[in-house]
Amino acid sequence: MKILIVGSGGREHAIAWKVSQSPLAEKIYCAPGNAGIAEVAECVDIGAMEFDKLASFAKEKAIDLTIIGMDDPLVGGIVDVFEAQGLRVFGPRKNAAILEGSKAFSKDLMKKYHIPTAAYETFDDPRKAEEYLKTAKFPIVLKADGLALGKGVLICNTLEEALEGVKTIMLDKKFGSAGNHMVIEEFMTGREVSVLSFVDGKTIKTMASAQDHKRAKDGDQGLNTGGMGNFSPTPFYTKEVDDFCRKYIFQPTVDAMAAEGREFKGVIFFGLMLTPEGPKVLEYNARFGDPEAQVVLPRMENDMVEVVEACIDGRLDQIDLKFKEDAAVCVVLASDGYPVSYEKGLPIRGLENFKGKDGYYVFHAGTKFGPEGQVLTNGGRVLGVTALGKDLKEARKNAYEAVDWVDFDNKYYRHDIGKAIDEA
Ligand code: AMP
Ligand code: GLY
Repeated sequence: MKILIVGSGGREHAIAWKVSQSPLAEKIYCAPGNAGIAEVAECVDIGAMEFDKLASFAKEKAIDLTIIGMDDPLVGGIVDVFEAQGLRVFGPRKNAAILEGSKAFSKDLMKKYHIPTAAYETFDDPRKAEEYLKTAKFPIVLKADGLALGKGVLICNTLEEALEGVKTIMLDKKFGSAGNHMVIEEFMTGREVSVLSFVDGKTIKTMASAQDHKRAKDGDQGLNTGGMGNFSPTPFYTKEVDDFCRKYIFQPTVDAMAAEGREFKGVIFFGLMLTPEGPKVLEYNARFGDPEAQVVLPRMENDMVEVVEACIDGRLDQIDLKFKEDAAVCVVLASDGYPVSYEKGLPIRGLENFKGKDGYYVFHAGTKFGPEGQVLTNGGRVLGVTALGKDLKEARKNAYEAVDWVDFDNKYYRHDIGKAIDEA
């Protein structure tokens, strides 16, 4: 098969690597890709939002299957464009990707179908939001409705902060049109876990659990980022929690989408909070997480192409998803200054040290080739170093060892990825 992957981050590198392990994959393309993805796929210089160009490319090359990694094209309707041209594609259609694309939609869905989540109200009038806040309990959480690169969520401790937050989101439009509508929700306490799953419209099969580290600095200090590292599985996601989530969250979400005429095919990423009252949904994403894909896919034993095909054809019930017992830890190597401002174009040394090392992976997040073919940094998050181990402690030790194998000026990373497992 000829396979096209759309995206350019560490997640897409992990997907491309996993697809490259499949005997079904004869030729892999990635648009636009990056310097690491180029090792397993032919990179094509078309942006992820250029739907028509991508579809023309897929036709011209007789691509058998396209896998969409990123949220923006999914929410923008790339799957509908491909399907309209008779192209086979993996990911939710626009009317289903709204599960991630609109927080107001997902909250209303959960309310209607009694899926556990934080209590909330939605607003499109900033005056009404301000009135509501004057009688609310603090802390409280403000969320811009649409996609905002994971940054449209404000946790406000006081009324003053919250009023400032309404101004930032709805009046100053810091997150653009995502701020036309806003969700205000109850602040939940507990441990956060992520669960990724494959969905074929009716059947849902969960992959492994993972735990993200969103803040930029050690000890969960600093600004929120796209994710500075994570580990899988998480010991806090117990059998009991899993049973509850299957019954009250996972299948009900898939059934709710089908009942609404928004059949979901693709990957659902459940962001969960394990609160004292039980697991509740923080958010849904309509795709693999990044860096979650970088710990979950190296643990997956199945042929990913087979699983993806089964999702498209609605026969996921016939697939037995299998994961290695090994644990995985991913440490993101960023450019110092991320997520605010940082240098790009710095040479990366030592990538060859990963060659031939079983159980060690270096996924490229933001890299590109320089004029002489050298690999340069090209983003805030530069690399994801993943290692497997017989348990989380060993995986963490291995990952931090491998972090020293690569280097670039201003290399920055958190030293405490996976430390929470010591409390388990
Ligand atoms: P979201 O994009 O909705 O997942 O929000 C980003 C982050 O904000 C989450 O990963 C949580 O750490 C935090 N957060 C979101 N909603 C809540 C909530 N209701 N209570 C506490 N923390 C929250
Ligand atoms: N790591 C969180 C996300 O991909 O949204």
